[in-house]
Amino acid sequence: MKHKLFQPYTVRNVTLKNRIVMSPMCMYSSDNQDGYAQPFHLTHYESRAAGQVGLIITEATAVLPEGRISHEDLGIWSDEHIEGLQKINEGIHRHGAKAGIQLAHAGRKANLRDETFAPSAEAFSASMKVPTEMTKEDIHRTVEAFREGAGRSKKAGFDVIELHGAHGYLINQFLSPLTNKREDEYGGTRENRYRFLSEAIEAVKQEWDGPLFVRISGEEYHEDGNTMDDFIYFAREMKSQGVDLIDVSSGGVVPAAIDPYPGYQVTYAEQIKQGAGIDTGAVGLITSGNQAEEILQNERADLVFLARALLRNPYWPKEAADELGYPLEGPRQYTRAW
Ligand SMILES: Cc1cc2nc3c(=O)[nH]c(=O)nc-3n(C[C@H](O)[C@H](O)[C@H](O)COP(=O)(O)O)c2cc1C
Repeated sequence: MKHKLFQPYTVRNVTLKNRIVMSPMCMYSSDNQDGYAQPFHLTHYESRAAGQVGLIITEATAVLPEGRISHEDLGIWSDEHIEGLQKINEGIHRHGAKAGIQLAHAGRKANLRDETFAPSAEAFSASMKVPTEMTKEDIHRTVEAFREGAGRSKKAGFDVIELHGAHGYLINQFLSPLTNKREDEYGGTRENRYRFLSEAIEAVKQEWDGPLFVRISGEEYHEDGNTMDDFIYFAREMKSQGVDLIDVSSGGVVPAAIDPYPGYQVTYAEQIKQGAGIDTGAVGLITSGNQAEEILQNERADLVFLARALLRNPYWPKEAADELGYPLEGPRQYTRAW
């Protein structure tokens, strides 16, 4: 069998050595509350690179301080953040993995002491702050922050940028009719709800010509939310703007009970791939080599993203290779155990 999980994947000028992606995961470990990378981050990301993950996407990294989910999030709102991110990248690259950054703004889901901002002045839940409705000036300032974040990502040596448009954070708040109640050109029709993301993509492209991914929530678990038809519309627009891959997650827009099962979100990645003719990444309870291989071989997605399985085992690629009978190369230093 020709194992697809271990076949390279080329996107623009970047070739990933395999199809295994470390999904972005907030570590809430910027202990001084200033957005800087700490020693923990270096060990955390380099370990997964030593474990032979093909692409490591770092956690949601805030383009503005008010866009953090918590005070301990990583940040990229100033040039001073570049150096720490550069060190993370050096560790990742040492093992032949590629490095991605997830550029993010939490919008109304920012759990901070200060004022929060969103398309509309509605709180996520009773326990969360009511955000300030963004003025056009706030919108332009935030789009500009995504552009600056992209420029700094390039300086820090990242290979891939992913925009966080999922889980009910700011971009998702603009996309969804459940959270976007605006009456100007940024709200109402789906064309208008897409405008903020469209502007963010154009801004990023001013600084970045490398691979560009966007993560979206492909199901909102609410009858008045976006439908698959809407997601395919957004995906087609993104494709026409030059986005290379849609990383398809789900939920987080409004509080909802989700009952996850193995591969519960793969169907959304598959429908968007088929419907918009764009590469996709599948994520969500993908835990075994066979499961990952099935998704790729059946062309349901082009990359598999793993989160918790890689927290449990940084050497998950080795585990999957053993399961599939693939002779994966390991770090030279570990040859006697590999
Ligand atoms: C600790 C933790 C932190 C996470 N932080 C992020 C994040 O920063 N950005 C994001 O898009 N998803 C985040 N997620 C979601 C994961 O990327 C992934 O989509 C989800 O856990 C499902 O995949 P899994 O079943 O392989 O864990 C996080 C998940 C976990 C467990």
